[in-house]
Amino acid sequence: MHMEQTCDIELRAETLLAQMTLEEKVGQLNQQPLTNDISALEQGVRSGAVGSVVLAYTPFAGREHRRDQTAQRERLQRIAREESRLGIPLLLGRDVLHGHHTVFPIPLAQAAAWDPALAGRAAELAAAEAAQDHVNLIFAPMADVCRDLRWGRVVEGYGEDPFLSGRYTRSAVEGFQRSTAISACVKHFLAYGGVEGGRDYSGVDASQRQLRSVYLPPFAQAVAAGTDCVMAAFNDVNGVPVTASAELLTGLLKGELGFSGIVVSDWNAIGQLVAQGAAEDRRDAARLAFLAGVDVDMCSGCYAEHLAGLVRDGVCPEARLDDAVRRVLRVKLRRQGLRPAPPARKEAAAAALELAQKSIVLLKNRGGVLPLSPGGPVALIGAAARQRRIHLGSWTLDGRAERTASIAQALRGRREIVLSCCDDPQRARRAAAQAETAVVVLGEPWDHTGEARGSAALSLSEGQLAALRAAAGSCRRVVAVVCAGRALCLSEAEQYADAILCCWHGGVQAAQAIASVLCGDVCPSGKLPISMPRHVGQIPLCYSQRTAARNIDSYYGPGDIASYLDCSAAPLYPFGWGLSYAAFSYGPVSARWSGDRLCLEASVRSTGARTAQEVCQCYIQPRGAGRAHPARLLRGFQRVELAPGEERTVRFILGPEELSAPDETGRDRLWPSYAAWIGGDCLTTNQTVFRIKDGWAANARGQKGCAREHENSHRPRQAHHPERHSGQGQGRRRVFPQQRGAGHTRRAGGGQLSVRRRHPLRLF
Ligand code: BGC
Repeated sequence: MHMEQTCDIELRAETLLAQMTLEEKVGQLNQQPLTNDISALEQGVRSGAVGSVVLAYTPFAGREHRRDQTAQRERLQRIAREESRLGIPLLLGRDVLHGHHTVFPIPLAQAAAWDPALAGRAAELAAAEAAQDHVNLIFAPMADVCRDLRWGRVVEGYGEDPFLSGRYTRSAVEGFQRSTAISACVKHFLAYGGVEGGRDYSGVDASQRQLRSVYLPPFAQAVAAGTDCVMAAFNDVNGVPVTASAELLTGLLKGELGFSGIVVSDWNAIGQLVAQGAAEDRRDAARLAFLAGVDVDMCSGCYAEHLAGLVRDGVCPEARLDDAVRRVLRVKLRRQGLRPAPPARKEAAAAALELAQKSIVLLKNRGGVLPLSPGGPVALIGAAARQRRIHLGSWTLDGRAERTASIAQALRGRREIVLSCCDDPQRARRAAAQAETAVVVLGEPWDHTGEARGSAALSLSEGQLAALRAAAGSCRRVVAVVCAGRALCLSEAEQYADAILCCWHGGVQAAQAIASVLCGDVCPSGKLPISMPRHVGQIPLCYSQRTAARNIDSYYGPGDIASYLDCSAAPLYPFGWGLSYAAFSYGPVSARWSGDRLCLEASVRSTGARTAQEVCQCYIQPRGAGRAHPARLLRGFQRVELAPGEERTVRFILGPEELSAPDETGRDRLWPSYAAWIGGDCLTTNQTVFRIKDGWAANARGQKGCAREHENSHRPRQAHHPERHSGQGQGRRRVFPQQRGAGHTRRAGGGQLSVRRRHPLRLF
């Protein structure tokens, strides 16, 4: 935004603020749901007591279905603009997590595509569709890094890794806010993805190092991208509910990261401070949240009831109230642009198809059973094969199953099919016996992930496994197609299936995407954004776990000592894993300095017989300085397309931002030496090591004079690697506090504007 526009917005915000009564100011901080009586809501909007509305009828909007609300929204907005004293428009917020009418793959699947730019385009299309339905605030993206696979909300985010999640979060914010009519609200700040035992809304104990290295980076990216709004999380961090944490909201988010937009609570989170035991009553809850830095109260009503009194009594300073209202007014003034044009349905569908195709991960392909041969009949087995709603996933408030095909429909006409669309083992056996290949569709219903949808077992249903076993008993080639919103334990399925396709909930074009991969029109190229466990008892399971003291069986391979007596410590499929119908080999990693940056390079060659895409990944491990370090940290990735026999060099440029990682106090620093890897997944052993000399470390921010030495080691893979593996854009730089969002503004001096007018100036 240009300086002039920023000044103009500041001036207009001050002008408005100067005209507002205490009650009107509090009204701007009061966000109400549609659950309430609609005429009372309209009256609240008219009187200036309501400043924004959550377009949801239940606190669990992710599972909601309610159509034709657009006229009501239009009416509410008209009342705010034309019938309220100051004509301040409403923020109309909705959860548009992965598409609006056009449903894109769930965010976790989008992350499996390792293509943040495409996800950003999807966000832009979703925002344009939502804007037609009078939405101007989108409660997305969800930037919570998930560290417990049992957590149901894993579906809404971008997996286990902060770097990958950060790249996606940034693209999504930029995509949503590309139009000047829509605000993004990144959520849920902070550490919600670490709730104990994966139990929703519960607490998180996390060190400074963990908070800053795992949970913070995607939010820092969102702030750097200029997100208008940040939602505070329900959970507590180290015993303090985020909603009441001045340290996190005012200190870290608004202070260190320089966030100048709106902090909104989660649904009724302020009221819930009483239930959490943090507040004595609702007035105390309003005080705590407000002083901690929550600007807008989503749905609890505590601000509406008590904030004016708290300010009048001098408990909450008026300056803090003005700061909160100013934040709201700025966003409202900034987003007064024209609504984006509705996207062409075809264009949105094409983006949904590309994203769905790129998100499919081929976990296993024994004997090359995929792609399906053109001639042989296929037994299509499983109730999920004829379901359509399954592909949309949760948080699809405006998607329609009618616009989606089932896998049975998508395969029909492409292969000769014997259908057994139920999970009955007898029928599965009969169908499989007539076919060259049995394709068994497994997974979980769309509403088994999302808010308050944790899973203790992470398993497929017994019925589905019985059908798979039966199919495997009567057919030599068995393919499992898994449609799920999380990483399930597939150990048992893995014993019976020759090939496994992880297809997530792939959105409105999922079935076509699955059919195109099964039939070989498209080469699978997705890679896991999350580790897939063998057993739920392995959780927490994450590729960046610290290396153990003794040579014990671990994520990275067998050791001299067993981690568990009854299970390997390695995941069934590791982070970054995914096969292709082609094959790729990597040359040794080289490291050289290019100015003050480290340039890591490796060649990647296609050894397959067809053109295909590989996601090349770059990992580092800091070493030394008396600390135990994460085994690996993703620091870059590139999607490359290679023709048969073609070779390319992939290059990753790492500066101090990429090489630094927080110490135990949470302070970012460089470390004495590093190992770095380039390969097709996190288990790659294609490694080099290098050392940072003092001169460079001292001048870490882009100074010259770095000294280094490195050696290369290109060793074969470790024994437990699941199977032969295969493999744009340089990794984004980490964001430091001094980098501010595009929307960062400073308050213009407004002393002369403090005169209260009797006839308000209408600034909207
Ligand atoms: C969820 C948020 C969501 C809000 C509004 C809450 O229950 O935690 O993610 O944005 O509801 O629907």
